[in-house]
Amino acid sequence: MRHKRPIRMLAWAMLAGGVASAGAAGRIKGDPAKAVSVVTEACAACHGQDGNSLVPNFPRLAGQAPEYLFLEMKDFKAERRKSEIMAPFLARLSESDLANLALYFSAQKPAPGEVTKPELLAVGKKVYLEGNPGSGVPSCDGCHDENGAGSSKFPRIAAQNVEYTLDQIKLYATHGRKNGVKAMRVVGERLTSQEAEAVAQYLASLK
Ligand code: HEC
Ligand code: HEC
Repeated sequence: MRHKRPIRMLAWAMLAGGVASAGAAGRIKGDPAKAVSVVTEACAACHGQDGNSLVPNFPRLAGQAPEYLFLEMKDFKAERRKSEIMAPFLARLSESDLANLALYFSAQKPAPGEVTKPELLAVGKKVYLEGNPGSGVPSCDGCHDENGAGSSKFPRIAAQNVEYTLDQIKLYATHGRKNGVKAMRVVGERLTSQEAEAVAQYLASLK
């Protein structure tokens, strides 16, 4: 099986046609249909074939902005975002494969998230919309949108798995994730563990 992969990858790369690009003005070009078999072979076990991962600490990718997915995959490959779990699955994929994957997952329909502690939603909503002026936590809606939908510049965080969100907040706080904006480091460092848990529950509740 191994020796077949590079040939198939090359074929995809040539068929993809457009050059993948992301960035300030970049739009992702590619063909999501060409990602289907890669997803089945290499991603579905953890992220779900439709991008709605059911494993609490694996992120849901369905409906995520393609620009964000593309950048994160490139960052994993280049080890700007470190993950021993993720990097090997991307190592042999070309930029056009990554573009196709980004378009594929962003086109999937996000399933409703799973709230496990509804009693925290009110506090979570307050943190999301107001931050914590006392400790200097910025509100989240300014960047991630009022309903967590994100945009081409900011990731969608609505309906995300609670455990994954908490893992990321912790990684930002401990500088284990450094590939992004400074604001997220500030968020990670300044949220109390109760606020983090509450806002993670609130994100899971957003549609
Ligand atoms: C063994 C499980 C596993 C497999 C297989 C896997 N992933 Fe992941 N993926 C993860 C985990 C865990 C993370 C979170 C990593 C971290 O931040 O530490 C992640 C993160 C991501 C992210 C970042 C999401 C975000 O919201 O920031 C993307 C994009 C992604 N994976 C795409 C893929 C693609 C595409 C494939 C297949 C080529 C794949 N993954 C295969 C477990 C997996
Ligand atoms: C100034 C803009 C800004 C603000 C304010 C902000 N974020 Fe973010 N956030 C980003 C950007 C950009 C990223 C992705 C890149 C990165 O890592 O910085 C991100 C990433 C995230 C992620 C990881 C998403 C993923 O799929 O891995 C989570 C979770 C998150 N933000 C939650 C929050 C919460 C909760 C708040 C409010 C307390 C907040 N953010 C405030 C810009 C912001």
